[in-house]
Amino acid sequence: MSYNLLKGKKGIIFGALNDQSIAWKVAERAYEEGAEFILTNAPVAIRMGELDELAKKTNSDVVPADATSIEDIEKLFDAAIKKFGKIDFILHSIGMSINVRKGIPYTESNYEFYMKGMDISSVSFHKVMKVAMQKEVMNEWGSIVALSYIAAQRVFPNYNDMSNAKALLESIARNFGYYFGEKNKVRVNTISQSPTATTAGSGVSGFDAFINYAEDMSPLGNASALACADYCVSLFSDLTKYVTMQNLFHDGGFSSVGVSQKVMDRFGTLKM
Ligand SMILES: NC(=O)c1ccc[n+]([C@@H]2O[C@H](COP(=O)([O-])OP(=O)(O)OC[C@H]3O[C@@H](n4cnc5c(N)ncnc54)[C@H](O)[C@@H]3O)[C@@H](O)[C@H]2O)c1
Repeated sequence: MSYNLLKGKKGIIFGALNDQSIAWKVAERAYEEGAEFILTNAPVAIRMGELDELAKKTNSDVVPADATSIEDIEKLFDAAIKKFGKIDFILHSIGMSINVRKGIPYTESNYEFYMKGMDISSVSFHKVMKVAMQKEVMNEWGSIVALSYIAAQRVFPNYNDMSNAKALLESIARNFGYYFGEKNKVRVNTISQSPTATTAGSGVSGFDAFINYAEDMSPLGNASALACADYCVSLFSDLTKYVTMQNLFHDGGFSSVGVSQKVMDRFGTLKM
């Protein structure tokens, strides 16, 4: 259902890779709600070709940008300024760990891969906001959102150095949110999303167990990518103007549950 919540709003959406991607769903929902935006991803991801389909569907331009490259980000914002003047929202939906990809255990991290993962998954968020602020591209009461995961606060084996990346990402949102709020009345938040079956998600070993466990621990069940897109739309809309510098759990209640009955039932009766 559409409520025209983003009518007249312009934005940039990072990270739609295929129709499983959270960013893909956000683009579809934002379009339905009346937004116009530029879609961007790393050049290598764009070469895979699937983004064109989304661009057609949402009547948007595709501008390649490696989110770790200041030069690419500057070109991207210049394209946005040319097309829209100023913009109202940015979605950072980017994550990648080379240590995870190569199956290197956390305790044996390769630091070159570790730093690259931080750059892609976290520091890129700082870079995007730095360029946005320098180029004065955000309208007042604009909204910037990045996607996080509860491994920033708790240990989930196999999530590996992405846990550190998410902790840094959330900290960047809080800190940059302070300055962006004071300077331009722009809000900055992270959404801590349930495990979701996407390309990035499925790269984590034992991901099925992650999803199933979270499903049984969450009173509402896991939040889908589409539900996450709805939440992003609400954060880009004028209905959440005073929400900033927050890490917002969008996880069906998972983060507040110690143990659920469903999980307890699996462990049987306690032997005293
Ligand atoms: N899937 C989950 O379970 C889950 C849960 C919580 C949070 N998240 C987060 O959601 C975000 C989106 O991930 P997703 O699950 O939709 O997976 P996805 O694989 O569809 O999206 C990840 C995106 O990051 C992009 N990317 C990688 N390197 C890049 C670079 N250098 N420059 C620009 N873009 C780059 C990829 O091309 C891809 O589009 C990530 O931050 C992820 O950590 C995912």
